[in-house]
Amino acid sequence: MSTTAPDSPTGRADLGDLAAALAGAQVVVCCGSGGVGKTTTAAVLGLELARRGQRVVVVTIDPAKRLADALGLTGGLTNEPARLDLDLPPGSRGELWATMLDTAATFDGLVRANAPTAEQAERILSNRFYRNIAGALSGTQEYMAAERLHALHRDDRFDVVVVDTPPTRNALDFLEAPGTLARFLDHPLFKLLMMPTRRGMKVLNVAAQPVLRTIGKVVGGDVLADAIAFFQAFDGMETGFRDRADAVMTLLRSDVTRFVLVAAPQRDTIDEARYFASRLASSSLSVAALVVNRSTPTFGTPTVARTRANAALWANLDELVATSEAEHAQLGDLVRDVDPAPVCWVPMLSSDVHDQSGLDEIRRLLFGPEPGNG
Ligand SMILES: Nc1ncnc2c1ncn2[C@@H]1O[C@H](COP(=O)(O)OP(=O)(O)O)[C@@H](O)[C@H]1O
Ligand SMILES: [Mg+2]
Repeated sequence: MSTTAPDSPTGRADLGDLAAALAGAQVVVCCGSGGVGKTTTAAVLGLELARRGQRVVVVTIDPAKRLADALGLTGGLTNEPARLDLDLPPGSRGELWATMLDTAATFDGLVRANAPTAEQAERILSNRFYRNIAGALSGTQEYMAAERLHALHRDDRFDVVVVDTPPTRNALDFLEAPGTLARFLDHPLFKLLMMPTRRGMKVLNVAAQPVLRTIGKVVGGDVLADAIAFFQAFDGMETGFRDRADAVMTLLRSDVTRFVLVAAPQRDTIDEARYFASRLASSSLSVAALVVNRSTPTFGTPTVARTRANAALWANLDELVATSEAEHAQLGDLVRDVDPAPVCWVPMLSSDVHDQSGLDEIRRLLFGPEPGNG
């Protein structure tokens, strides 16, 4: 049975509009609140782009095994991209890879790649402050997501990176990753700790600094000593970190990046989506497409006349149509916010998306049957 969204003044994309919105993309960022189908959408977009002959990597922050299962990755998702077994049109050079952002592993890799010597890298990696605290510092996850995006975008194995953002309001904080990094590196504590080495002193004399003496009393001398050792070992590496953060900013603002907003027809997710749209707008970025997932399916206008015998069926249908119309009305403001982006309606399927054929069903609803094949 085919499901079509009703014609509506509140926006509906034709098949092909979403593909057009993604044409030429090297980075696709999916955003929306939790549970709307963001991870599923990221996987579906990756699948479609691979079918169109692109070598795609989907990077998720979702530790849920569902995506790994849906994609057929029995080993689960890891920080290292894994290639999926796809049933692609013959002759297609498309590939689909998937990876999960592991903040700690990404940070470790960066330290190894950027420390001037292996010994300095080891000093940082084995530092207790680094092991226990660095990953938990505010902004670290967003910052590592930006670093990861930078690395995957430059990776010769991939043409397109599809990013599944965290289901939080600060999901778009990585748009300000350089700001986040600057906050980290320009933190008064960091500056204070770095100062003595900048002045050429070999050993920081904690006792000589009244502020540090106080901090030491509060957090414990060992913790402070670890933090100092960490920041000192980190000295000199900030420049590379800043440069990459700037490069990511430029990438996100360039015309090879597309933001796809995902919402479901419920008040709270619509409000979140409107928040994301305004957040993008305030960074002078626009929404490339809006996917309204889990909408109420309607089945077109039946060709059978109403009779007493099928009255119950008709009542059921009338209810679906009324619900669907209410959903379209509810989405009106969001649709206007993202105008002229195409709005793609995906109905609630009869079951969860737990395998590639489920993903493919959504793919066909968004893009039509066999792109690139005919
Ligand atoms: N159109 C749909 N119909 C039915 N189930 C869906 C649909 N889209 C997503 N799901 C299911 O809803 C759940 C949440 O989807 P997910 O993509 O993980 O959401 P998010 O990443 O936004 O939290 C998953 O179990 C997924 O299989
Ligand atoms: Mg998710």
